[in-house]
Amino acid sequence: MTTAAKIGIVTVSDRASRGEYVDRGGPAIQEYFRNVLISEWEPMAVVVPDERPLLDETLIRLAEQDGCCLIVTTGGTGPAARDVTPEATEAVCEKMMPGFGELMRFESLKAVPTAILSRQTAGIRSGCLILNLPGQPKAIKECMDAVMPAIPYCIDLIDGPYLETDPEKIQAFRPKKKS
Ligand code: MTE
Repeated sequence: MTTAAKIGIVTVSDRASRGEYVDRGGPAIQEYFRNVLISEWEPMAVVVPDERPLLDETLIRLAEQDGCCLIVTTGGTGPAARDVTPEATEAVCEKMMPGFGELMRFESLKAVPTAILSRQTAGIRSGCLILNLPGQPKAIKECMDAVMPAIPYCIDLIDGPYLETDPEKIQAFRPKKKS
């Protein structure tokens, strides 16, 4: 029996956490994974304010107690004073994975010139890949389509569960093992 891969989905927003607007980013990330993953997975969704150390604690809890192999955050990556998601990510990660942010910005710039304003990054904490996305719901597919082909192999390399994508939607790339 295989256990479902746990995926943390963290909406970082003062207003959504106060119920002043409906969270559209978290559900859009869930919808994205529902569409592209064909292996079993389970979402662990939370909405938190742009607040440290609460955000740091949430990321650590999802990676360690809840056993997520992947955490995707949305929001709080910009230049505003309360945008602290990249700082929280760097603070909790043992290892940074800057290529994710570089590729997402590169692809996003084709859609919107203000993509340069996102400081989105990624890193590894306790066998979990933590990935930042901007808060705009439309940014989710733009960014995820860019990096999703490399995510299953990254999770393999950190001893996580085997994630399988629908090849008609996303071709996951796994380099062939040497014989
Ligand atoms: N990236 C994509 N793909 N699509 C977008 O609409 N918005 C940008 C940028 N990256 C955007 C994007 C804007 S306007 C901002 S301010 C930054 O992300 C930071 O957004 P955040 O603070 O909501 O994370």
